[in-house]
Amino acid sequence: MSNKLRLCEAASVKDGEPVAAFAEGMPALAVYNVDGEIFVTDNLCTHGNAMLTDGYQDGDIIECPFHGGSFDIKTGAAKAFPCQVAIASYPVEIEDGWVCITKPEGAA
Ligand code: FES
Repeated sequence: MSNKLRLCEAASVKDGEPVAAFAEGMPALAVYNVDGEIFVTDNLCTHGNAMLTDGYQDGDIIECPFHGGSFDIKTGAAKAFPCQVAIASYPVEIEDGWVCITKPEGAA
């Protein structure tokens, strides 16, 4: 059985406008377009109860809507205080125009 998860159509994700995505057995996800390349991270900020897709994308940085913390969209690394813990990021494949990730080992 394939662990590949289809999230959304790649063409629906515009540069600078992250999209919330959901997949069975996964935490809430965020899909980004950075200069035409698609990236996927967890959507929940590691500092509090905020969805990063409600925040502000500036190039490859996503700023949380709550306290001004930010993350590197490409790696998930925390970039600005008060965020100190990285968000998970997932390798992306585009398949038939769809954004796909592979469910990590151990995910429910
Ligand atoms: Fe994201 Fe505080 S909840 S910076």
